[in-house]
Amino acid sequence: MEVIQDNAIDLSVKIAGIKMKNPVMVASGTFGYGEEFSSFMDLRELGAIVAKSITLLPRPGNPPPRIIETPAGMLNSIGLQNVGLDRFISDKMVFLRNIGIPIIVSISGEDSGEYVELSKRLSEVEGVSGLEVNISCPNVAHGGMIFGSDTCLTYALVKAIRSATKLPIIVKLSPNVTNIVEIAKTAVEAGADALSLINTLLGMAIDIYTKRPKLGNVTGGLSGPAIRPIAVRMVWQVAKAVNVPIIGMGGIMSTSDALEFIIAGANAISIGTANFVNPQTALEIISGIKDYMIQNHIQNINHLVGSLRLEK
Ligand SMILES: Cc1cc2nc3c(=O)[nH]c(=O)nc-3n(C[C@H](O)[C@H](O)[C@H](O)COP(=O)(O)O)c2cc1C
Repeated sequence: MEVIQDNAIDLSVKIAGIKMKNPVMVASGTFGYGEEFSSFMDLRELGAIVAKSITLLPRPGNPPPRIIETPAGMLNSIGLQNVGLDRFISDKMVFLRNIGIPIIVSISGEDSGEYVELSKRLSEVEGVSGLEVNISCPNVAHGGMIFGSDTCLTYALVKAIRSATKLPIIVKLSPNVTNIVEIAKTAVEAGADALSLINTLLGMAIDIYTKRPKLGNVTGGLSGPAIRPIAVRMVWQVAKAVNVPIIGMGGIMSTSDALEFIIAGANAISIGTANFVNPQTALEIISGIKDYMIQNHIQNINHLVGSLRLEK
């Protein structure tokens, strides 16, 4: 069989019209505003950065404790703590736009009007490659996951954002639903250019001695390796049902984890919880995917997407 040279490997992907030099992204809320990780790695090596979800006004987030470890994962109840749109534009975007890779801005709101306003204002900001619409945050009392758990609300929201911006729209789905395929199809019908999945699974932990919840907000979102099989299953189901690119995430810690998602149908993958364990994870996975492609004679990453074999 023909040997593929290292420089002949094509890792580039196009997600919602956004060109990335490789399919490895970092997930919203686990990579700050990029700058926090700049001393650990060359950020230019990443496929794209998805910034922490922003809201119109700054948010302090939920009361502590907001993060606890669980077997094979973590529970967080951050509650969308963020600097708010004005400071994001005047401060955080200045650093982000100078990195030289696609910057995807995650938006979240309490109502449709807030998402629309965020979309309009961000459309005017230099260096924003696309919007990730977070309709899946499990840690807020208003908005968040409520939008992503109901097809009517998903449709109306995505449609309203579609009319407000020409930026690529990536809708981030919640796993806390009975039928994620229904929500995925609805988001695409309403104008989503791509889908991200999954956000965290709603969970809870109790201190048996104090009989109090371990998180200040009582419940939180479960992430990390514990949720990976659920995420892979959902990516596979959604990929079969829609014709837009999919960004897969949920417990990706290693190259083989990332490859599972790609084979299941993800066009790109995102690293979340692993950034807290080893900030180099994304870069290690980029080179690991390349090695796998050389070993398996795959020249173009797109040929691997959805290559799951079901025949016996
Ligand atoms: C501490 C923490 C904060 C997060 N904040 C956000 C957020 O602001 N917006 C969002 O869309 N997802 C947020 N997420 C969800 C992640 O982006 C990702 O979808 C999820 O954690 C699953 O991937 P993982 O298991 O690799 O972490 C957060 C996750 C964690 C652990």
